[in-house]
This record gives sequence, C-alpha cells and structure tokens, in this order.
Amino acid sequence: MRILSGIQPSGSLHLGNYFGMMRPAIELQEQGEAYYFIADYHSMTSLFDPEQRRKNSLDVALDFLACGLDPQRTVFFRQSDVPEVTELTWLLGTVTPMGLLERCHSYKDKLAKGISPNFGLFAYPVLMAADILIYDSNVVPVGRDQKQHVEVTRDIAIKFNEQYGQTFVIPEPQIREEVAVVPGTDGQKMSKSYGNTIDIFGEQKATRKRIMSIVMDSRTPQEPKPDADRNLAVQLLKLVAPAETGREYEERLRAGGLGYGDLKKALFEHYWNFFASARAKRVELAANLGYVNQVLADGAAKARVKAREVVERAKLAAGLR
Ligand code: ADP
Ligand code: TRP
Repeated sequence: MRILSGIQPSGSLHLGNYFGMMRPAIELQEQGEAYYFIADYHSMTSLFDPEQRRKNSLDVALDFLACGLDPQRTVFFRQSDVPEVTELTWLLGTVTPMGLLERCHSYKDKLAKGISPNFGLFAYPVLMAADILIYDSNVVPVGRDQKQHVEVTRDIAIKFNEQYGQTFVIPEPQIREEVAVVPGTDGQKMSKSYGNTIDIFGEQKATRKRIMSIVMDSRTPQEPKPDADRNLAVQLLKLVAPAETGREYEERLRAGGLGYGDLKKALFEHYWNFFASARAKRVELAANLGYVNQVLADGAAKARVKAREVVERAKLAAGLR
C-alpha cells in the first residue's frame, strides 16, 4: 500500500494541521510505503513572497521531522524537486472538464472572498491529482476540507483511464472523523486564513495568550453547563490531554464550579506538555540543517524514480511515445 499526502508551506502549522493531517499521516507510516511532501508549487497560487516561501518550506520540514516523521521509513521531499509532476499536470489537464474545477469548494470559497483568481488557483486540483497519481498512491490521509480534491483526482484518473487505457491507480481519501475538523479559538474551523489558530510550535507567552483568548460565553463559573462537551477549550483539551483528564474537565464544567480561566490554563499546560519532546527535537534539527536538507534530497531522488516511471507510462498511453 502506498500512502501519500502533502502540506502547503503557507504559514506556521497549527493544531488543525497536526491532528487533522500530520499525526494520522505519521501513524500511517507503519502501514505501508509513505510519500509525504511539502507542496511548494501549490503555495505559489496564494503566497508571493520568495523569502517567506523558503522559510515556510524549511519550517514545514522541521515541524514534520520533529513530530515524528521517520525518514528511514518515509519518502519525504519537496514537491518542486520532482518537476515531473508539472508535466503530468498538463496531461491530466487535457482530460479534466472545466466544470469539475469550477465546482471545487476551495476555489469557490476563494472567489467568494474576493480573491482575484490566477490560472494556478483554478488548476490547483489538477496539480494535486498529479501529486497523487504520479506515485500510484492508494491512500491519501487529509482533513475533511481536502476530500473533494481527492474525489476530483479520482474522476480525472478514471477519465484518463477510459480515454487512454488503464494507466493510473484510483486513490482513496482517508479522513479521521474524530479530528476531521479541529475548531479554532473562535469556534470556526481552525485555519490560518481565519486567524484563529494555535500553532504547534508557537512561542510560549504568545501561545498562552492565544489560548486565554478562546471565545467563551458569559455564564458564571457556578452555573452548570449541560453543553460542556461543545465547549471549545474542552474539545481542544481532549486532543492534547489524556482521555481521563479531558473527561474530568468536561464533567467539572457540566456540574458547575469550574471557571473558564482555570479550564484554559489547564488547556495551555497540557498543550505545552503534549509537544514538549517534539519541541526539543525541533531545536536539535534546526541546529542541524545539513541533515534536514540531506533528508529532502534523498527523498526527492527516491520519489523521482517512481515519478518518471509513471509519467512514462502515461506518455506511452497517450501516444506521446
Ligand atoms: P489552513 O486551513 O490553515 O490553510 P491547510 O488547508 O493548509 O490549512 O491544511 C493542511 C492540512 O491540514 C490538510 O490536510 C487539512 O485538511 C488539514 N487541516 C487544516 N485545518 C484543519 C482543521 N481545523 N481540522 C482538521 N484538519 C485540518
Ligand atoms: N491541497 C493540500 C492542502 O492544502 C495540499 C496538497 C497538495 C495535498 N497536494 C496534495 C494533499 C496531494 C494530499 C495529496 O492541504
């Protein structure tokens, strides 16, 4: 089984990225041959600062390695180090109906926000399809918001196979329902575009402040709260604390007598401990960038072997060879 996923280097990674995508992906390394990459080509559709892209790409590499990605087991690389993927994007684009792309939520959301779209943003799902299909991937672990893009990938692969004969493996999205949507500090989906994130490796003081700013209602501490399970801090606490602790705080809130300030303090403490060893590992890695760059170079070399094989297969099928 080949498992593939990517993450854009578009800003600091947050708890939504961690629980929705990184941790499931890291756990899956045990179950098959995993290919994980930094989607720097994709980031070009919405980030236009080269220095920022360089910095973010390195940050994603450090974050992933610190959180437990094992480069002995997993092929870890930068998307742009496998330029074959852009060639496959063209081949796939020619069998992709415009309507399929016009229906994509993430594209429509960006239009609705008033972003003036470039061709890259429109073609984003085709590049993503190439990312997935070029490694004959079977399983794609992502958060729920990326599910449609994996479905588009399937549609494109099926179309190509129908047109040119069996060429691509049809992949399956894999979504962890229990963390499909991690809420942000305002209760919407945690997302860097909403400014409601809690970073994985945030600075201590700033993160404490951020957690203390999680939106609560105005009920007094004494009041029992029958809806304790829907409290944002409880939901986040359940992710970073032992199950027992999460349940205990939920019960105390439900019964009345637990103040929101104390609840958020507990959340901060558990959050800080949860990432303590990863934080230490990250400091070590950051002092050893030669190693990190070597991991990415080795990953790209391995990924390219597979990518070339699949692109050749597709070119042959389409009559380019
Ligand atoms: P953002 O919304 O902050 O821009 P991305 O779209 O770059 O995050 O998401 C990267 C990965 O993390 C994707 O697989 C996505 O599904 C997952 N993800 C992002 N935010 C969340 C969230 N709040 N809950 C669960 N998964 C998430
Ligand atoms: N679009 C994904 C995101 O924003 C990142 C991504 C690019 C990806 N290519 C991929 C994810 C291929 C899974 C598979 O999160």
